[in-house]
Amino acid sequence: MIIKACLFDLDGVVVDTARFHFLAWKYIANRLGFEFTENDNERLKGVSRMDSLEILLEIGNISLTPLEKIRYAGEKNNRYLDYIQHMTSNDILPGVKKFLSKVKSKKILLGLGSASKNAKLILEKIKITSMFDVIVDGNLITQAKPHPEIFARGAALLNTDPVNCIVFEDAVAGIQAAHNAGMKCIGVGSSDILKEADLVIPGFMNLKLEDITLD
Ligand code: BG6
Ligand code: MG
Repeated sequence: MIIKACLFDLDGVVVDTARFHFLAWKYIANRLGFEFTENDNERLKGVSRMDSLEILLEIGNISLTPLEKIRYAGEKNNRYLDYIQHMTSNDILPGVKKFLSKVKSKKILLGLGSASKNAKLILEKIKITSMFDVIVDGNLITQAKPHPEIFARGAALLNTDPVNCIVFEDAVAGIQAAHNAGMKCIGVGSSDILKEADLVIPGFMNLKLEDITLD
């Protein structure tokens, strides 16, 4: 395939914020009186804040009123914001910045496709906002991953056919979103979990564009 654009998820791909989302949800689960494990958390990765809360409540077998849901989602976000407030460019995952620069030098477009409403704040903190030609975040879309909207919107804004786009994702829902958008997807993480990806890499350290072989 001819790669004309690379679309990157943020949480768990560019930065290790997936850990902070987990810890913040775990705090809410504990407050509601149940345990929430890292294994459970796989279901929340890539999923919007309110959809994540619904999954969490299903795991804990708890029902809340709409108002309580808004309150708990807000509380989770405040906790998450506390975790990310001291982030700096040192928190970019190993090899990511170099890989982004390499891709850019080959005149391949760069897009960010994140379900997070905090995506722009994090990009500012880690100082890589200007590297992206387009940023699609949770404020811009109405349908969260695995719906293709985030990546389809990214490709459209980059004026690039989905068949020429590849997505980098750490979440099962994100891989499904890429495929639903007609794009190839590189899983970032463990191949045991990211079975649906077209290729799985452990991370970006020493990764070359030539290493990515897709049909
Ligand atoms: C995704 C994360 O990137 O953003 C999810 O993988 C998170 O865990 C989602 O729920 C929404 O994030 P936020 O920052 O808008 O609550
Ligand atoms: Mg992610």
